[in-house]
Amino acid sequence: MAEAPTRNRKLLAWVEEVVKLCEPAGVHWCDGSENEYRLLCDELTRSGTFTPLDPTARPQCYLARSHPSDVARVEDRTYICSTRQEDAGPTNNWAEPAEMKKTLTSFFQGSMKGRTLYVIPFCMGPFGSPLAKIGVEITDSAYVVVNMRIMTRMGNRVLAELGQDGEFVPCLHSVGAPLEPGAPDVAWPCEPDPSRKYIVHFPEEPSIWSYGSGYGGNALLGKKCLALRIASVIARREGWLAEHMLIMAVTSPQGRTHYLAAAFPSACGKTNLAMMQPSLPGWKVRTLGDDIAWIRLGEDGRLYAMNPETGFFGVAPGTSRVSNPNAMATFCCNSIFTNVALTSNKDVWWEDMGVAPPPVATDWQGNEWTPGSDRKAAHPNARFTAPASQCPVIDPDWENPAGVPLSAILFGGRRPNTIPLVNEAFDWEHGVFLGSSAGSETTTAALGKAGVMRRDPFAMLPFCGYHMGDYLANWLSLPERTDRSKLPKIFFVNWFRKDEQGRWLWPGYSENSRILKWICERVDGKAGHVSTPIGRLPTISSLDLSGLQVKADDIRRLLSVEKEGWQQELDNIGAYYERLGDRLPPRLWQELEKVRQRLTD
Ligand code: OXD
Ligand code: MN
Repeated sequence: MAEAPTRNRKLLAWVEEVVKLCEPAGVHWCDGSENEYRLLCDELTRSGTFTPLDPTARPQCYLARSHPSDVARVEDRTYICSTRQEDAGPTNNWAEPAEMKKTLTSFFQGSMKGRTLYVIPFCMGPFGSPLAKIGVEITDSAYVVVNMRIMTRMGNRVLAELGQDGEFVPCLHSVGAPLEPGAPDVAWPCEPDPSRKYIVHFPEEPSIWSYGSGYGGNALLGKKCLALRIASVIARREGWLAEHMLIMAVTSPQGRTHYLAAAFPSACGKTNLAMMQPSLPGWKVRTLGDDIAWIRLGEDGRLYAMNPETGFFGVAPGTSRVSNPNAMATFCCNSIFTNVALTSNKDVWWEDMGVAPPPVATDWQGNEWTPGSDRKAAHPNARFTAPASQCPVIDPDWENPAGVPLSAILFGGRRPNTIPLVNEAFDWEHGVFLGSSAGSETTTAALGKAGVMRRDPFAMLPFCGYHMGDYLANWLSLPERTDRSKLPKIFFVNWFRKDEQGRWLWPGYSENSRILKWICERVDGKAGHVSTPIGRLPTISSLDLSGLQVKADDIRRLLSVEKEGWQQELDNIGAYYERLGDRLPPRLWQELEKVRQRLTD
């Protein structure tokens, strides 16, 4: 084994143990340098995993194509292995930890044969942040290493922080494709049988074991596994919050800035909102994060949010100069594209990119593709991995170890009917009720059926590492811990309303700045509102609609309370609450009943 660049006893012992178990051909300790990144990209190119893109159009960019069975997070293979099943709750898969360890050990036995074992020390959060957490991922995938270098702070600097006795979260990953001597490798090694993939969390240790997949959240273990599932458990114990939220700064023409966090289910446009270019003159948006927020109470009693990541792992299809010009600029260079289409001049293309399809391209599976084909050129969950520092509207405070103070928290989802454009909660508890009722039409970020309405409380359904009832109780407890007037205001937004013919009622994207303006003005106590049974809605005159071509009737509909739809909605939320069982805080039932009562009064 190459000389280890650390004296951390726990780390050395763990690496030795994993080497014995997985039997790799060699061990590589990642230093996190640019040089190492380049060498690994070259190696991935030689092995056929990477296709370099045109260096003049897209310098230092690569395309990877995954195995067709390995294209998204596998929620049905994701487990929370707490000692007691009730601590994982009804929304997580659970297995007895010792049993699961036994099963996994048999899978990992010899799983890295013929491959290099990479040790990736990484830090989630800026060094020096009170919340920063160190993890070490062991993986047999160089693709994972280069993605982790974009998405996290990794390498020698982390080992220095760790020192001899520092604590870290062990994150073990194998693609589950051992190579026999002399056997040829494939471009995307993985375990093709879905029933043999495992994404497993042991929240009490804490540790993570991931087997069989090389894709996104299944394999880049700092992201969903550590920064959400494991961190949510640590956060609850330590009194902070680990959330599936973007963080953005919104500045008015007068120069007043509010920081907002927003939780939307996967693939509902968090990246687009975080980097939005406002259509309203003089308004500015800057990005601090597009997926995860770690939030703590500051000494002044306010909530401070920090992005633990350093990159964006965004959905490519649908990203265009209209939907997200700043993302388009962010992945101009030094980025990795996975499962998008390749043009004949070695650039990338995907559906709804806002540029005409190339006359002929190579689709995400490596086959020739021409426009009009009944197949998609890019996989709907194709992704870009791009450094946050390259975003033209990155906020100067995005790496501030203290985080930024939140003025508002937004919840939302894809809801074609009933849910209005924007709704302000009456108070904190009503806001937690709104967040708990969040839901969306499913998309393709996780394997499963798309287009079905699924409840996704706080957009944390796939990412909460403990009982959802306890999670909601944790949010409800905040006013006991701080002056409630210092807490952010809570809003529920929905830019996805359609009419009976399926036509969008609201243009979305840059026009959402009109809603952000109303939200900032509500925080400042300036904008008008009307109190309704479901919350505070904008009056039509309090929304800045100047220069917007939207029919008055559509606006009225977007801002109305549809009684019948809401009664159904409440029944549906109640049915979901039943499923969460008796650990659901009774206060949420009361909030639900209060809305029902107001609707019938
Ligand atoms: C993501 C997701 O990749 O939520 O961010 O699925
Ligand atoms: Mn996400």
